Amino acid sequence: MTGAGRGSFISFEGIDGSGKSTQARLLAETLRAAGRDVVLTREPGGSPGAEEIRRLVLEGHKDRWSAETEILLFTAARRDHLEKTIRPALAAGKIVITDRFADSTRLYQGARAEGLRETVDSLHALMIGTEPDLTFVVDMDPAIGLARALSRKGTEERFESFGEELQARMRQGFLDLAKEYAGRCVVIDGARPVEAVAADIAALAQTRLAQNHHAEGPGP
Ligand code: ADP
Ligand code: TYD
Repeated sequence: MTGAGRGSFISFEGIDGSGKSTQARLLAETLRAAGRDVVLTREPGGSPGAEEIRRLVLEGHKDRWSAETEILLFTAARRDHLEKTIRPALAAGKIVITDRFADSTRLYQGARAEGLRETVDSLHALMIGTEPDLTFVVDMDPAIGLARALSRKGTEERFESFGEELQARMRQGFLDLAKEYAGRCVVIDGARPVEAVAADIAALAQTRLAQNHHAEGPGP
């Protein structure tokens, strides 16, 4: 609990197609209907500069960037997102809901090779230095998630083309991260009708929001 004027920072994490974007949007609608001021955003992206980096990193062949270069690109995008969108909104007392944040880099890049998780964490400490107050980890059978993700047509196929085996490892990785950051993470069963998932999330968010606001100094 901090002083007035501090907002709350909520992230959604999970494998592709787990329903994060759908649930982030529904939570934003619910909280707005309850009179809260909400900024709904996403990563990579969420600010004009970060959206440019999004195009660089998500389009093209899957071997276009090394894992190390990806860590730099995703962190650069996150830094811009933090400076231009997240921090100003939190300072104005708003609720920020982001579709993915640093946990995605911890997993997608951090799990690519021995030692990379430490690289992700070091760069995060140096350049980002903040965590959400609450993270919903939407859990889902990877086969269902992949089918859902592939049913959306688009050019951002670099990651989805990694396939189901990677998705299965990532699912376990997100569950492990939820344990590592048990204070802020809540695992949600995403393999249910949209409305049932949304009702759980809304109830949990409203309980947490009543308890805490985002506590953060100026950061790195
Ligand atoms: P993500 O952001 O995690 O990739 P999306 O929210 O974009 O996932 O959902 C992926 C696809 O699955 C979309 O077409 C969406 O309409 C659909 N979808 C989302 N949640 C559910 C659900 N609970 N049941 C069935 N389909 C869903
Ligand atoms: P996203 O737009 O959330 O895709 P989806 O809605 O299909 O889940 O994210 C695009 C991809 O970017 C996704 O495959 C995960 C990947 N990603 C990383 O690898 N590292 C990161 O730090 C972030 C934020 C995303």
